[in-house]
Amino acid sequence: MPLREPVICPVSVATGRLGNASGRYEKRLSDLLGLYEDSAAFEAELNRDDRVVYEVTDYRPSADAGDMIFGVTRMSPGRIGREYFFTRGHIHARADRPEIYYGESGQGIMLLESPEGEVRALPIGPRDIVYVPPYWIHRSVNVGNDDLVMTFAYPADSGQDYGIIERSGGMRSRVVASADGWALADNAAYRLRAPAEIDALFARSR
Ligand code: NI
Repeated sequence: MPLREPVICPVSVATGRLGNASGRYEKRLSDLLGLYEDSAAFEAELNRDDRVVYEVTDYRPSADAGDMIFGVTRMSPGRIGREYFFTRGHIHARADRPEIYYGESGQGIMLLESPEGEVRALPIGPRDIVYVPPYWIHRSVNVGNDDLVMTFAYPADSGQDYGIIERSGGMRSRVVASADGWALADNAAYRLRAPAEIDALFARSR
């Protein structure tokens, strides 16, 4: 069997990008339409500047089971109303696949939600590794004043399911500004998943 060629991909903390990346995508504010609590504040910010709010550069050697995808994400700081900037979030399409995030710079929260609606919010800063176990929905939130830069890695056949968050009316908790910096607030639009949907998630693996 022909072997793949080993590579080195330098992480640029200053630019928040991976060198030698095989792919890159970016999300603008307009890509997050409908996800924030304060739609009037969202509209105002969108009209002011529909800017890039996060970008991902990654290296994808293949999509084979047993292979690995890794990369760097850079998130701008900011808020919509009281709510800090976040990524869309997802569960892995093969839901039993895990992920790790390593903090490079800035201050973030990894917001996690189980299929049954349990919530965890883990602060991530420079040199922290957050382990996202299988079956947890995950979203990154920038609660600092600077770019949040993180390196990540996950099994190459994980895939991403973004619809799971839409179907429940968003994630159960929102990360909002507070006197202590940040706090969790209930998402009033959230609907618990039905038992059949939860069963289907746990059945969804290889
Ligand atoms: Ni993921």
